[in-house]
Amino acid sequence: MKIPLSVPCLGEVEKQAVLEVLDSGMLARGKQVEAFEEEFAHYLGRKEAVATNSGTSALFVALKALGVQEGDKVITTPFTFVATASSILHCGALPVFCDVDERTCNIDPEKLEATLKKEKGVKGVIIVHLYGVPCAMDDILTLKEKYRFFLLEDCAQAHGASYKGKKVGSFGEMGAFSFYPTKNMTTGEGGMVVTNDRVLAEKCHMLISHGSKRRYYHEILGYNFRMTDIAAAIGRVQLKKLDQLNERRRKHADFYNRVLSPLEDFLVTPWVPQEAVAVFHQYTLKILRYRDELLAFLREQGIACEIYYPVPLHKQPFLQGMMDEVSLPVAECLANRVLSIPVHPLLREDERQTVVDSIRKFFDEESLRCR
Ligand SMILES: Cc1ncc(COP(=O)(O)O)c(C=O)c1O
Repeated sequence: MKIPLSVPCLGEVEKQAVLEVLDSGMLARGKQVEAFEEEFAHYLGRKEAVATNSGTSALFVALKALGVQEGDKVITTPFTFVATASSILHCGALPVFCDVDERTCNIDPEKLEATLKKEKGVKGVIIVHLYGVPCAMDDILTLKEKYRFFLLEDCAQAHGASYKGKKVGSFGEMGAFSFYPTKNMTTGEGGMVVTNDRVLAEKCHMLISHGSKRRYYHEILGYNFRMTDIAAAIGRVQLKKLDQLNERRRKHADFYNRVLSPLEDFLVTPWVPQEAVAVFHQYTLKILRYRDELLAFLREQGIACEIYYPVPLHKQPFLQGMMDEVSLPVAECLANRVLSIPVHPLLREDERQTVVDSIRKFFDEESLRCR
């Protein structure tokens, strides 16, 4: 038996929507993208949304629109996918890494304040709602008031997650989403920038389309980061299913929490702030001993699992020499402990039971060996 870590939940409706676009003859950015932008903004409670061809380009154009340029500093977490930080570097700015909270794996507000006090010339902060678990928004917004930085939320793993009833992506000046196939909703490849600010949205629209509002009149230097109508047609169907798909992820997470928390000598189940509703892009355990052996054992049993992320960004080879060496002990420790197990919406009850039985079996055998 093979149990995959993630499966895109696509059905007949998505197929039909794509066929309609193919039949229409309008494949590039058109009515489907415009409708998707409007529906996505409405879902999040934001005024504007700009569709892009990836989450990476969404982050990059958001930073560009916010005026990030050479010599600026942007604080972010080292415990994330590389695009969070590479988008800062592509603007000519420097990422400043701030350590994370060991319970949520998200940026730690106390350490964020210490970093803000220490670093001069910080223009903004990118927070990441990692694994679909919202950051500590009350504390982060208090710091934003006090230190006056722009806030960009990387919501690539958190479509539909909320904090005190408000969806993530609606707290900062801007939010950026990814629709890569493993994400909570997909368009194949794709991304979205959201904001309440019309000027910022207009700038993003220009940046993704060669710096022009009107064809062949280029006011600023731009790119081609546009989403296609094919992708948007899939996204519109996926958006309608999103809450239901997230509910299934939460049910699996509840099950795992219940049956795995008694194994507290060996592992720690995910922690979600009381004010938050998580969407479990990943269900990530912290394994206190034998993490790599457990990973190998589960894979032998046909259970896909993964380490997000094995190397914190400040330790990545491409960044060496670009910045001063820093020690971020929590992120470094988490990289050796985390293990994500299948939590996708199509996971069956018998499959998740197999996952749990295999984890129990591994630790039973380990305990016997240690005696
Ligand atoms: C936290 C985070 N940020 C940014 C991205 C980049 O998104 P994309 O792969 O759509 O470019 C991802 C996707 O993997 C991600 O997980």
